[in-house]
Amino acid sequence: MKVLVSGGAGYIGSTVCSALLDAGHQPVILDSLVTGDPSFVVDRVFYQGDISDSALVGRIFREHPDVGVALHFAARTVVAESQSNPGLYYRENVVKSLHFFELLITAGCLRVIFSSSASIYQAPPGGGVNEKTPLRPESPYGWSKLMGEQMLRNLTEATALRALALRYFNPIGADPRLRTGAQALNPSHILGQLLATASGRAAHLQITGTDYPTRDGTGLRDYIHVWDLAQAHVAAVERFDAALGAETFLPINLGTGQGVTVRELIRSFEAVTGQTVPQKEAPRRPGDQAGTYAEIALAAERLGWVPQLSTADAIASALAWEKCRSASAADSRSAPEPLAEA
Ligand SMILES: NC(=O)c1ccc[n+]([C@@H]2O[C@H](COP(=O)([O-])OP(=O)(O)OC[C@H]3O[C@@H](n4cnc5c(N)ncnc54)[C@H](O)[C@@H]3O)[C@@H](O)[C@H]2O)c1
Repeated sequence: MKVLVSGGAGYIGSTVCSALLDAGHQPVILDSLVTGDPSFVVDRVFYQGDISDSALVGRIFREHPDVGVALHFAARTVVAESQSNPGLYYRENVVKSLHFFELLITAGCLRVIFSSSASIYQAPPGGGVNEKTPLRPESPYGWSKLMGEQMLRNLTEATALRALALRYFNPIGADPRLRTGAQALNPSHILGQLLATASGRAAHLQITGTDYPTRDGTGLRDYIHVWDLAQAHVAAVERFDAALGAETFLPINLGTGQGVTVRELIRSFEAVTGQTVPQKEAPRRPGDQAGTYAEIALAAERLGWVPQLSTADAIASALAWEKCRSASAADSRSAPEPLAEA
């Protein structure tokens, strides 16, 4: 099937494009490259531009009238940036998404799969959340994702549009064939810090918060291998109508179903690398939460999807990707300077 992929030059979107291609589908990518990586769209059908550019979206549908479903990944995604610049997040993620959804309806593309987030949940004691758990985002980023869902819910009630909202937990790792992965060499999340410690770019790992109500006092997350996440999107594309049944809008959690604490992640990392991670303990940072993990029965029931890969697989994949990125960065540094233009 032909699939329009907004944000297909980003971390998750590009990995989903790889999985779609492997499964025999044809992604058509729309991305402004504001945070995407041009190398992730090489040899792929790619349109550079904004999701709110009506002329460009119109042209894509004229050139690909057989697009059967749209995957909407394009968004700004940095929680801290959303706190310092909320206007940017409401404009880019909410206003532009509304415009994009309306362009899809106008073009007659009436199936949309929206990238939502675990950050919209109100973390309950114990950490397990299902799709009926109360919602209360903590940041403008989280609110922008919840507003994306709400707009879709109302649009699907009033028009022929139908939508799945896939709520991702904490994606890590890369495409197993190393075609794509995280763009940043120094991601700020805990795995990024572990990679930095292992490669000597950081002296130690800082564990922020050891007094949370979890098994060992450290924060808990649900780390899902991005390749498992990608397979869930392939299933959502292929089973879209069956997954929705009589409903017009449906949110579905995508995680592993297991919470992993910071100390457990460190132990897994040490087991995969054979290296001891130097650690320092520090107090909680303001705004940090004990964390959540996904209950994933609905994904199994509606998408026929269950994650296949372990946390150790995801760590090994992130390490392989980092090695590959560092090698290509070193290659480009040692490449001859381009000649100056006359
Ligand atoms: N990475 C995570 O941990 C995570 C967790 C939950 C949900 N999500 C959601 O998944 C989606 C993808 O996230 P990601 O981590 O791959 O981010 P990313 O920044 O790597 O990818 C986003 C892509 O969208 C493009 N883009 C942004 N605004 C655009 C616009 N207005 N028009 C066209 N293209 C635009 C960027 O250039 C980039 O290629 C986002 O919607 C994000 O909210 C991500």
